Amino acid sequence: MTNEIDEPRHPFLNGLSKHRGAPPTVVVIFGASGDLTARKLVPAIFNLGLDNLLPGEFHLIGYGRKPIADAVFREIMDEAIGEHSRRPLNKEVWDRVRQNMTYHSGGYDDAEAFASLAEKIDQIEAGLGRDVQRLFYVSTPPSVFEPIINNLGRSGMAKAHVGTKLASKVIIEKPFGRDLGSARALNAAINEVFEEPQVYRIDHYLGKETVQDLLVQRFGNSIFEPLWNREHVDCVQITVAESLGVGTRGGYYDTSGALRDMIQNHTMQLVALTAMEPPVSLDPEAIRDEKVKVLKAIQPLELKTDGGDVVRGRYTGGVVDGAPVESYMEAEGIPADSTTETYAALRLSINNWRWQGVPFYIRSGKRMARRASEIAIQFKRPPGILFSEGDKFDVAQNTMVIRIQPDEGVTLVMNSKIPGLETRTQPVKMHFRYATTFGSNTPEAYERLILDAMIGDSTLFIRGDETEASWKLITPILEHWQACGQNGLAEYAAGSWGPSASVRLLSEKGHQWRRSG
Ligand code: BG6
Repeated sequence: MTNEIDEPRHPFLNGLSKHRGAPPTVVVIFGASGDLTARKLVPAIFNLGLDNLLPGEFHLIGYGRKPIADAVFREIMDEAIGEHSRRPLNKEVWDRVRQNMTYHSGGYDDAEAFASLAEKIDQIEAGLGRDVQRLFYVSTPPSVFEPIINNLGRSGMAKAHVGTKLASKVIIEKPFGRDLGSARALNAAINEVFEEPQVYRIDHYLGKETVQDLLVQRFGNSIFEPLWNREHVDCVQITVAESLGVGTRGGYYDTSGALRDMIQNHTMQLVALTAMEPPVSLDPEAIRDEKVKVLKAIQPLELKTDGGDVVRGRYTGGVVDGAPVESYMEAEGIPADSTTETYAALRLSINNWRWQGVPFYIRSGKRMARRASEIAIQFKRPPGILFSEGDKFDVAQNTMVIRIQPDEGVTLVMNSKIPGLETRTQPVKMHFRYATTFGSNTPEAYERLILDAMIGDSTLFIRGDETEASWKLITPILEHWQACGQNGLAEYAAGSWGPSASVRLLSEKGHQWRRSG
């Protein structure tokens, strides 16, 4: 596939042109002394500044329990930019962001601290002589989500300018609940205070360029969509593999596990975008309606300790990238009786007109052989008349592989004749690489997501019913595993492609993982 195209265009070009009009905004980050603020959020804001995409009137207030002076907060953020920004420091741009950056300390259940925060924002408005949008970014542990939301309600900040373009908005980081019950309770608590259009639930995978490109690949090309159904597709394989272990996040991770941490959110979003029907427009609600429909069409999974539609695993010691690494159980903060999975694989059946009978295999794990996230659409073989002997085919199955990361791009696997006097075939690959065509310095997910929230475009955020549909599928698995304890928790060596039990999920239907060795 050639990398020459006439005019590179963004899939959401119309949306992007709206970006120039982001209204005057005050962003408040709850959890401002946390890791995400320094690693992702403030660097993303600085990079938006570099691209001239911040509104002319932009203020940032960090909110946290720790008392920190404004000057010290700014210094911490100076360091964050030095260490984590995608592009190097531009002093002029950074100074413009920095001069309107302050810190507000207070507890998350401290009504007075919220009242004084509200006053601070009122003063900013008075100083500017115009109304501003309030954008609340909740980047705290989930235990304080509800107190924050309630205090935003009580202090009146949630309702500021409702009914106008400057209506307050709230961005909520994951985890969005631990199961269906808690996700529903959280949705209810949020919707007591905020109208659904004010709520922006983050899944940073939706901010990735390649994930957004999925819609363009599917619906912007007339050669793929006619084949994207049970007539032509044999199976779909979605892999979200990480080579990293849990690092120092063991304490958090052990309460989560691969199913909650990666499958319920990121991987299910990839399933939804891959399998959904064409939306009637690029309107956020039209896209989210289709995603919910397909999530609801996924059949409840068959759950057994041995067999069924799910496999879970935990990594032992092994070798990753040539270096020996410790097992999950040896990592910091993991209790000796842990039953947490670091790998999960699911076989999904989508019972709708398009997909009935086409298995969707999905898997995600830590400490796997390589960092590789991809969606592989494996097509059926042509009739076995010309290139087969008996029931043995001489041609490979066509596969379209959408590489989410790294080496972002699309590969088509097809068959070709090997030059020579005999007719022998060989699978060959056509590659499209983002880095070759577009260069490698694409925006980080958080840049796109913060910008979209500022301009009020919720396309790349999760709606409440979407998160509930996904939890509805996942919660019975969690309950089943909890009841099983260690039973059925397979081991896999760090640096491998996961437990051997996962092979069964596919082989039962005559398939095999694309990458398995
Ligand atoms: C996060 C998970 O949501 O996604 C982490 O909590 C995981 O455990 C991360 O490592 C992966 O994100 P990315 O963008 O590196 O693929």
